[in-house]
Amino acid sequence: MITLGIESSCDETAAAVLKDGNQLLSSVVASQTATHHEFGGVVPELASREHIRNICYVVEGALSGAGVGFESIDGIAVTSGPGLAGALLVGLTYAKGLAFSLGRPFVGVNHLEGHIASVLLEHPLAEFPALALVISGGHTSLFHMRGPTHAKIIARTLDDAAGEALDKLAKLVGLGYPGGPVIDKLSQFGNPSAVPFSLPRISSGELAFSFSGLKSAGVRYVGKRQITPLEAGAKINPSQVSSDLLDLLASYQKSVVDQVLDRLDKGLQGRSICSIQLSGGVSCNSELRKRSREYFEGRGIRVYYPSPQLTTDNAAMIAVAGQLRLERGETDPWDLQADPNLPFHGPSSSSG
Ligand code: KG4
Ligand code: ZN
Repeated sequence: MITLGIESSCDETAAAVLKDGNQLLSSVVASQTATHHEFGGVVPELASREHIRNICYVVEGALSGAGVGFESIDGIAVTSGPGLAGALLVGLTYAKGLAFSLGRPFVGVNHLEGHIASVLLEHPLAEFPALALVISGGHTSLFHMRGPTHAKIIARTLDDAAGEALDKLAKLVGLGYPGGPVIDKLSQFGNPSAVPFSLPRISSGELAFSFSGLKSAGVRYVGKRQITPLEAGAKINPSQVSSDLLDLLASYQKSVVDQVLDRLDKGLQGRSICSIQLSGGVSCNSELRKRSREYFEGRGIRVYYPSPQLTTDNAAMIAVAGQLRLERGETDPWDLQADPNLPFHGPSSSSG
């Protein structure tokens, strides 16, 4: 079976072709970071317009990369939420139009379900029960997975997402958007213990993330130390960045990772867990990858994450998540709506 995946929920227009469950024939991502860089975050209206400009050639690129034509597509999987309303509409409307004209089924896929599925594309033998953490610019959500199709949410962020906290600090100090990759790079030159950020206190018994306190502490530190933002658009050379700023970035990143490890650790308590599966843009972070492996693998719990190109938004993950339903002969109705706040309780069952 050949599945065309389409993703347009935020600032990446993406299409991918997947064959028979796990053979990824192509994956094309048109990133809009250059468009949004100077604004320090995604501008929704600009994102929608870019998706409209990109969607046709991205899909055509994915098909030609896979060496197949439109007529070979057996079904289409498309992100229907959560995300930016206008951005989602572009991918969903295109997918419906294509499915209708080809006489093929289409299914709407939850973006979080896609991120979780991205791990299984490369690690089909990952062990269950597992904890799956989707950690990105829009989400920080932890799921208890009893199997690949049984997820139950056990923690989410009470305020900002982890990636959002990184992006906001980056914007404040002139590092542009997205901030995560550049903080990751510059942190290697700073002292992660220089600024003692504390973990957020969450009422006892509750498992939740919170990054707004860290963000405020970062803003206060910038003011107190009078750290001057870098010049917008300037090429960033670590040797020309002040040690104060490098230390702040390294400490801030460490604090994000500390919190993630702490919450994963708490998520393990009282549960029999065989693996931890990280996905989403922030799962590309080198310190998170390194420390999570060190921390959990010594205790016999495998840690999996996708290769870098599958951590940030892509359509391969949407194709993987949608294909099971397509294989079962399912299709969504033509009036399926894009839902910017689409809740996700797990691919099939939410009990357990
Ligand atoms: O998954 P994604 O493309 O979009 C959402 O679903 O939100 O994630 C984008 C986020 C941004 O906040 C970006 O700063 C962050 O992922 N990110 C990183 C790294 N690469 C991307 N954060 C930390 N370290 C990285 N290496
Ligand atoms: Zn995402």
